[in-house]
Amino acid sequence: MSHLTIHGGKKLNGTVTLQGAKNSALPILAATLLANGESIIHNCPDITDVDASLAILCSLGCKCSMSDNTVTVDSSSADKYSISDSLMSEMRSSVIFLGAMLAVNRKAELCAPGGCELGLRPINLHIDAFRRMGADIKEQHGRLICVAENGLCGTTVDLPVASVGATENIMIAATTAKGDTVIRNAAKEPEICDLANYLRACGANISGDGTTVITISGVKSLHPAEYNVIPDRIVAATFLSAAAICGGDVYISGANENHLISVLPCFEQMGCAVIPDSGGIRIKSSGNISRLGTVRTAEYPGFPTDAQPVLLAASCVANGTSIFVENIFSNRFRYVSELIKMGARISVLERVAVVDGVPMLTSAKLNATDLRGGAAMVIAALKASGVSDVYSIEHIERGYENIEQSFSNLGADIKKES
Ligand code: EPU
Repeated sequence: MSHLTIHGGKKLNGTVTLQGAKNSALPILAATLLANGESIIHNCPDITDVDASLAILCSLGCKCSMSDNTVTVDSSSADKYSISDSLMSEMRSSVIFLGAMLAVNRKAELCAPGGCELGLRPINLHIDAFRRMGADIKEQHGRLICVAENGLCGTTVDLPVASVGATENIMIAATTAKGDTVIRNAAKEPEICDLANYLRACGANISGDGTTVITISGVKSLHPAEYNVIPDRIVAATFLSAAAICGGDVYISGANENHLISVLPCFEQMGCAVIPDSGGIRIKSSGNISRLGTVRTAEYPGFPTDAQPVLLAASCVANGTSIFVENIFSNRFRYVSELIKMGARISVLERVAVVDGVPMLTSAKLNATDLRGGAAMVIAALKASGVSDVYSIEHIERGYENIEQSFSNLGADIKKES
């Protein structure tokens, strides 16, 4: 197994090109199943969650290839409707194939998805919505057997939680359902709009994405399209956090300030200069940062839960106390115990973490607990004195494309070793 070895204390300088958004690419890849032909998706991040999506598409009968961040999916021969337990367990997004399979085959068989352990992650909202759309869904021996004998029908779905995954799953399934589907209390994340834009490029009739009410009027079929995935706002927040505490002058090419409206003010509060322009975002920092006050995670446009670990890692060396309140997931502070090994002063009570900044972190052997928690450890290790090793980096590689190369290009001393 590989691990990252990081000699901390180097300033970061230069330009890094932002990868495409994982959380856009994954639902878009699932949706290619409906396009009955060759879809071309550019700016796909080269990460293991994309590999897992392509493996699922291949298992369903698609022909897939990836070269230089462009994925080609030919779904014209996709005739299977069952995903194996091992493929389902690879990532959370595998559940987004449920809507796509029901739309294409009128049936689907799969088990509950895997993915980062952030507390309970049920899929009841997905299931309830498909039942309302006419699917019969039964659980047999741990597998969900889903059949929509007469095809899916449009309906109104009131989501009790503005779930990103459920909104995406319903949107995909509704594109070719009979009649109109209205999603109330829909998620508003930029990745929802990206999926809607892709589906529209394939001929879908969708309006209201980016607001709390999305309407999808079913069309007969979708056609293939060529599409560019938006940049990854959480990876941007990761580079910003690292630059803030290491100090230096970093330009994140491709970062979109509109996607980071609740994140960029945090870096200004830390005392960094944040300079967005039409091509990206520049951050300049002395490396000595101020405390953040209270950060509360919320649905978009609120502060993203996925950026909570990397900002928390940065605030470990802030001048004063910062408080993080996690409102989306019930258990998203598992990584904190690793930061404490480095001398960070953090106390967690249920969904609240109190971080008392210390002047310096020290190196340690660390185990990534999940994707963003692993990224938080990398950031802390880039700042810490001495040499840290980060293990279980398969979690990090699910969402970050060549993280060691990106930081190394900025002047960090970081290597991947076997
Ligand atoms: N929820 C339910 N029932 C459901 C679905 C969700 O109770 O059927 C709850 C969840 O347990 C959670 C809340 O609703 O407490 C929000 O979950 P949501 O469905 O919005 O999350 P998701 O679709 O599973 C996506 C991202 C996550 C990101 C969340 C929130 C993808 C592939 N994943 O997950 O990304 O944290 O939205 O923004 O899009 C990451 O990239 O590291 C990551 C975890």
